[in-house]
Amino acid sequence: MNNVQPGLQALELDSASGRPELVDPFGRAITYLRVSVTDRCDFRCVYCMAENMSFLPKAEVLTLEELDRLCSAFVTRGVRKLRLTGGEPLVRRGIMTLVNALSRHLRSGALDELTLTTNGSQLAKYADELKAAGVRRINVSLDTLDAEKFRAITRWGALDQVLAGIDAAQAAGLKIKINTVALKGVNDDEFPKLIEWAHGRGMDLTLIEVMPLGEVGEGARLDQYLPLSVVRARLATRFSLADTDYRTGGPARYVRVAETGGRLGFITPLTHNFCESCNRVRVTCTGTLYMCLGQEDAADLRKPLRASEANDLLFGAIDEAISRKPKGHDFVIDRRHQRPALARHMSVTGG
Ligand SMILES: C[S@@+](CC[C@H](N)C(=O)[O-])C[C@H]1O[C@@H](n2cnc3c(N)ncnc32)[C@H](O)[C@@H]1O
Ligand code: SF4
Repeated sequence: MNNVQPGLQALELDSASGRPELVDPFGRAITYLRVSVTDRCDFRCVYCMAENMSFLPKAEVLTLEELDRLCSAFVTRGVRKLRLTGGEPLVRRGIMTLVNALSRHLRSGALDELTLTTNGSQLAKYADELKAAGVRRINVSLDTLDAEKFRAITRWGALDQVLAGIDAAQAAGLKIKINTVALKGVNDDEFPKLIEWAHGRGMDLTLIEVMPLGEVGEGARLDQYLPLSVVRARLATRFSLADTDYRTGGPARYVRVAETGGRLGFITPLTHNFCESCNRVRVTCTGTLYMCLGQEDAADLRKPLRASEANDLLFGAIDEAISRKPKGHDFVIDRRHQRPALARHMSVTGG
C-alpha cells in the first residue's frame, strides 16, 4: 500500500492491534458479528430442534472469558455490532457476566450496538440488567399469539411467560423487534393479527422464511415452507404496504404499513439473494467461525484461542477465514430427497 497517504493508512489500522479492519475479498467490511453463546435452549421449536437433542459437552463450549476474548478481538478489528444468540442466550449460566464485560466496548465507543436475539422466556428476569448494561434493543422470536399453537410450535414453551418477558423488556425501556417464522398451515392465518399487535405496542415485526437447516425430526420441512412473496401479496390485499429503504444492517427488507404506522420486515433467504451487502459473520459457541450462513465452509477459532494467551494466532486465523468469505450462499430445499441442504441446526449458528 505504498501509494496510500500516511494519514489514511493510519486511519485504516486499528490502534489496539495495529491490524487492519476486516474486509473480505469482495470489498465488504465485516462489521457485524453474531455469536452463539450456547447450543442449549429451554424450547424445542419444531423448525429448529429435534425434541431430544444431544448437546455439546461443556469442554467444547467456549467459556465466558473465551467468548469475551473472541468478541473483543473482532471488535478490535472493526466489528461495530455484536449480537448474542444461541440456542437461547439467556439460558447460558453467567450470561450477564459476559454482557456486562462486553458493554465496556459500548462505553469506549468501539462498539455501536450490543444486542441479542431471544425467545423471551427469561426476559422478565434479565430486562433491567440488560438495559443497565447498555443494550438498547433486542429481537424476540414469537410465531403466534395463540397459547396452544405456541406450545405446539415451541414444544416446551409457555406463551404467558414470553408475553410477560416482553412487558418487562418494554417497561425497562428496551426496544423490541418481533421475529416470526412463517409456517404454512401453522401461523399464516395470524399474520394480520400479529402485525396489529406488534405495531400497536410500538414494535417492528419481521417475517422470516423457514430455512432448510438441520434435521428436526418432523420430516415436514417442505410442508412448512411458505414463500414470503406469497405472504406479502396476501397482506397487500388487507394493508397498504409502502416500500422503505430502512435497513438495520441485517438482511430484512422493510415496508411501512399505512394502517398501523408500523414497520414490517421480510427476510427471504430462499427466494431472494441478500448476499451482496453481507457485512456479517457468525461464531458458534464452540468457536467455529462461519463466513456465510448458507455454506459449510468454516474456521476453527477455538484452537488458536486456547493455544496462546496472546491474540496473534487468533487474528491470523480470523484473517485467513475472512479471505475465504464466499460471495453468496447456496440455499436449496432438496425437493427430490426432501432433506435440508445444510446439516447444521439454526441453534448452532444462531440464525
Ligand atoms: C436459532 S434462534 C436463537 C435465538 C433464540 N433462541 C430465539 O429463538 O430467538 C434465532 C432465530 O432463528 C429462527 N430460526 C430457527 N430455525 C429456523 C429455520 N429453520 N428457519 C428460519 N428461521 C429459523 C428462530 O425463529 C429465531 O428467530
Ligand atoms: S428457535 Fe430459538 S427458542 Fe426455538 S428451539 Fe431454536 S434456539 Fe430455541
